[in-house]
Amino acid sequence: MIADKSKLVDSFEMRIADINTADLEQLHALSIGVGWPHRGDDWQFAREFGKGVVALDEAGRVMGSAMWFPYGEHFATIGLVITSPRLQAHGTGHWLMDHVLAQLAHRNLGLNATRAARRLYRSLNFTPESVVAQCQGEASLPPEVDIPSGTELRPLDTADLAAIAELDNEAFGADRAALLTRLLPARGFGLTRNGKIAAFSFCRPFGRGHVIGPVVAANDADAIAVIRLHVAEHTGEFLRLDTREKSGAFSDFLSHCGLSVFDTVTTMSRGRPWLSVRESWPSGTPKTYALAGHALG
Ligand SMILES: CC(C)(COP(=O)(O)OP(=O)(O)OC[C@H]1O[C@@H](n2cnc3c(N)ncnc32)[C@H](O)[C@@H]1OP(=O)(O)O)[C@@H](O)C(=O)NCCC(=O)NCCS
Repeated sequence: MIADKSKLVDSFEMRIADINTADLEQLHALSIGVGWPHRGDDWQFAREFGKGVVALDEAGRVMGSAMWFPYGEHFATIGLVITSPRLQAHGTGHWLMDHVLAQLAHRNLGLNATRAARRLYRSLNFTPESVVAQCQGEASLPPEVDIPSGTELRPLDTADLAAIAELDNEAFGADRAALLTRLLPARGFGLTRNGKIAAFSFCRPFGRGHVIGPVVAANDADAIAVIRLHVAEHTGEFLRLDTREKSGAFSDFLSHCGLSVFDTVTTMSRGRPWLSVRESWPSGTPKTYALAGHALG
């Protein structure tokens, strides 16, 4: 009897492991497999800062991932949830999320869901709140714009940490001082008014080029002032910025700089509503003009 040369294997056992035990190249291959731009360094940053799990097959290969990023005691974001394409729609995503949620039982949660993941998160009681536009492209020379009168623009340094963490907390709704501390070696600008930081921005290498974010400001003019120099410094290079601003001067400015909408994700929350509360606040309240990243919020 001649044995079949191929055999359909549609089920094999997987186990959960800490993401820090996973091979970085395999994590990188996992995200490339779903068309994401992350570099090995981006994964390394995520796992040094956050926590996570991987799904390993019997041979120890990474077939899935899920991460979470605690901010303060009561909130966390979830991200980098991936199932290898050949395993999708077999329950792995749900299984990974169950592990994540078990670690975060008493926290309010936020995430930015791709189209592929929306159904998964809805079934886990996440509620859609807002849409994030992933704006990117080859940056063109930004239009000349004066900074708002009565303000000064300057590079950020470590002495600014407490002030930017406070501003970010007001905009984001949770303490991200630990994240901002890690980002501080990146290029950052602060806009001061009466000697006090009123807006700030960071720009760091990520994916195909650089990403601008987080950006916190109380109005479009301040937000433009803190990102303009980043765009100027990366003119002709690949640049990305994730924002919830759909229209207005900030959104127009991005278009003029060659950053057009490439895709969108949906911000969802579980537990206490997250953004809907902040979006109803009076104008002049600091808000997040650009995300630190889809996973980081
Ligand atoms: C999103 C993702 C992680 C889901 O993983 P998965 O292993 O397929 O998830 P599951 O098999 O547990 O399915 C979860 C739910 O999505 C549904 N689903 C899975 N694939 C689907 C598809 N192609 N079309 C429609 N629904 C689908 C399932 O029916 C299930 O719904 P239910 O909970 O109502 O039964 C996976 O599709 C993926 O890695 N996508 C690319 C990366 C990505 O977008 N990650 C999300 C980041 S926020």
